[in-house]
Amino acid sequence: MKYDFDRLVDRSNTDSSKWGAVETIFGSRDVLPMWVADMDFPIAQPITEALRKRTEHEIYGYAQPPPSVIEAVTDRMKRKFGWTIKPEWIVFTPGVVPALHAAVKAFTHPGDAVITQEPVYHPFWSAVTANGCLVVNNQLKLINGHYEIDYDGLESEFHPKGGGMMASAPRIRMMILCNPHNPVGRVWSKEELTRMGKIIIRNDAIMVSDEIHCELLFKGFKHVPFASISEEFEQHCIVGMAPSKTFNLAGLSASSIIIPNTKLRDRFNAARAGILPRPNIFGLVALEAAYRYGDEWLGQLLEYLQGNLEFLMAYFGEKIPKIKVIKPEGTYLVWLDCRGLGMDEMSLRSLMREKAKVGLEDGHIFGSSGSGFQRMNIACPRVTLEQALKRIEQAVNEC
Ligand SMILES: Cc1ncc(COP(=O)(O)O)c(C=O)c1O
Repeated sequence: MKYDFDRLVDRSNTDSSKWGAVETIFGSRDVLPMWVADMDFPIAQPITEALRKRTEHEIYGYAQPPPSVIEAVTDRMKRKFGWTIKPEWIVFTPGVVPALHAAVKAFTHPGDAVITQEPVYHPFWSAVTANGCLVVNNQLKLINGHYEIDYDGLESEFHPKGGGMMASAPRIRMMILCNPHNPVGRVWSKEELTRMGKIIIRNDAIMVSDEIHCELLFKGFKHVPFASISEEFEQHCIVGMAPSKTFNLAGLSASSIIIPNTKLRDRFNAARAGILPRPNIFGLVALEAAYRYGDEWLGQLLEYLQGNLEFLMAYFGEKIPKIKVIKPEGTYLVWLDCRGLGMDEMSLRSLMREKAKVGLEDGHIFGSSGSGFQRMNIACPRVTLEQALKRIEQAVNEC
């Protein structure tokens, strides 16, 4: 079936965070929301049908993932990434972020440290600090418009100056990796993952790999699950997967956290007990339908997003050249380098929100190296994207 991603769908009065909170967050109802990561596209028809069928049952008690849901996950990992996983490795949670909190609780002690790579999805830090740990920043390097890993910096975090194993230096227990990376859009290659992973394993830490955006890839890019690299990697990591970003199901709360190492899985389960509820019953139905029958829709979505990206790149290049697009390899989030406008943080924010009336995310919320950047969600019909770009162009020309 042919899906129409150009169709404008009114999301007002649908309890949408993206649209409903516009006035509170951006100060005006007229702001076009292009912030939080969900899409303004209706979902794949097989998912709608599966949900409709399930609602007809009329009893919505506690969920127990059935074998068919578990198989949908194992099949998908095999089919999409050539990664063979065992059913017992999967832990279902209502989301990836709550699972990150549970992971920090499970694998650290208060006072330990956890590595993240700024600029990065900021809820990673709350997961760390809420558990009494410290965030260590292995900052990404921006080289000719391309973000890269600072491997030497990563290694040296484990050996702080002044004697390495100083009694006072916090022990680094884990790293939270974002792959594909929100907000800079990198899809880390097998080589990059291997180099990072070796450093983590050599230093006796655990990799917590958030791969929620793993199926949102632009042409020419391939996702490699961190754990799929080797058996050794498998034993030193946990991987967060979900259909929520790919299939626009974020409100249905169902993700699968894949933990091959039995001891790590037991610790994770102990840490989450009583805190993380079971996944949502409709979320499981949607997850299964998406993974089994969602590919026709997904193929068309990816084509459309590719078109949106090309449209946006051409628009900025021709009409707003002072803003440079960091070309994403994955996700539908575009990282805009606005430093060429020569504005301080507050003026840039006001330019986008008050003058252009486009609701973007300020770059500095992803870390201080994000200062001067803005993040734009392009998962919307092209007319909406065009409208936003026109507004930004006009505001930039007037300033
Ligand atoms: C990297 C990343 N992880 C996790 C999430 C949210 O995950 P969940 O809604 O499953 O908690 C997002 C949402 O934008 C994200 O970008």
